[in-house]
Amino acid sequence: MLAITKAKGCTLTDEEGKTYIDGIASWYTCVYGHCNDYIIEKVYAQMQQLDQVVFSGFTHEPAVKLSEALIHILPNNQEKLFFSDNGSTAIEIGIKMALQYHFNKGENRKVLLAFEDAFHGDTFGAMSVSGLSVYNGPFEAYLLQVERIATPTKENIALILEKLAKRLQQNDIAGFVYEPLIQGAAAMQMHDAEGLNKILALLKQNDVITVADEVMTGFGKTGKYFASDYLDEKPDIICMSKALTAGLLPMAVTSCTQKVYNAFYSDEISKGLFHGHTYTANPLACTAALAGIELLQSDEIQDNIQRVIVSHQKFNKEIKDHPKVLTTRQTGTIFALDLNLKMERYGNLRDKLMQHFMDNGVFLRPLGNTIYISPPYVISERELQKIYDTIKSVLEIV
Ligand SMILES: Cc1ncc(COP(=O)(O)O)c(C=O)c1O
Repeated sequence: MLAITKAKGCTLTDEEGKTYIDGIASWYTCVYGHCNDYIIEKVYAQMQQLDQVVFSGFTHEPAVKLSEALIHILPNNQEKLFFSDNGSTAIEIGIKMALQYHFNKGENRKVLLAFEDAFHGDTFGAMSVSGLSVYNGPFEAYLLQVERIATPTKENIALILEKLAKRLQQNDIAGFVYEPLIQGAAAMQMHDAEGLNKILALLKQNDVITVADEVMTGFGKTGKYFASDYLDEKPDIICMSKALTAGLLPMAVTSCTQKVYNAFYSDEISKGLFHGHTYTANPLACTAALAGIELLQSDEIQDNIQRVIVSHQKFNKEIKDHPKVLTTRQTGTIFALDLNLKMERYGNLRDKLMQHFMDNGVFLRPLGNTIYISPPYVISERELQKIYDTIKSVLEIV
């Protein structure tokens, strides 16, 4: 266990004063750098004005301004927002929306669809649609009814669509929860937009509510604001957290289309979506998120994103043919390589890799034989080069 006492920009400092470059933006949150001065200033000002208030029967300026800013950058079919406070809960709300959408319309649809190696979080709904049994195995008996499909490739897409079309005839599938283009916890597995578009189109024809989990992919990581921006078929619901608040405070938002919203809009109280956490739409978190979105839209951050993308591409050329490297992949600012070795997800060899990175002042968290980088966009070329050089040096010790 390492005690971190300070973080600034892309640097973490431990209690002994040793520094580490944060190569994964502290689980994809601090994309504008740690303790970002612009965001801190805005939140500090907000602290003098309004810290916390019930978000039931009340509203406040930070939530309103954030809503306007978010709707502006989200795919343009997204019309309404539902606030909460972490990524798993954003998914939980997305699932409840999908199930209750059909319930409110008097339909008996109770099955959810998800990708095989998905990860959507640690609450029960999120665990249900996740496919990794190391996390959710002990709770299998208590999970929701979920059926799984493979992530699409050029080879399997025809079969996926054929099976799905048959399965949809039973008319009991309520929603499809998916990580668009990149499955983070499945070791940054990437799939292309073409197959996913076809799956989404088929599901939409059958009124299955599509729920994009953009908790990891949102806010610029893929090179666009959202991974869904690469797709022609826009989701009915989008779940956001992590970089939403730039790592300063926890918050989440689940957005939806007018169609979804309309299924809940009624004078009958039982048609409403009941889900309210104490810190829902906390004014300080909303302020951090708004400041983050302002940065995301700035030329400076957009240039940084492009610079990181190009640097990864150059690194890829250098490393992809190394005998210890099996495959490489990149979507936007996320780069991953698989080592040509069999390794357990959290086994000794994986720990050896991580220790080598830490000894060299680089914080990366390999997943099995996958080494991935998802740096803050503001990372300097020198810092990026240090990460690349440390990855190259790790290839010499495995
Ligand atoms: C794709 C995805 N969805 C959901 C979650 C859950 O988010 P949280 O840890 O904030 O509950 C994560 C967390 O890593 C994630 O990567």
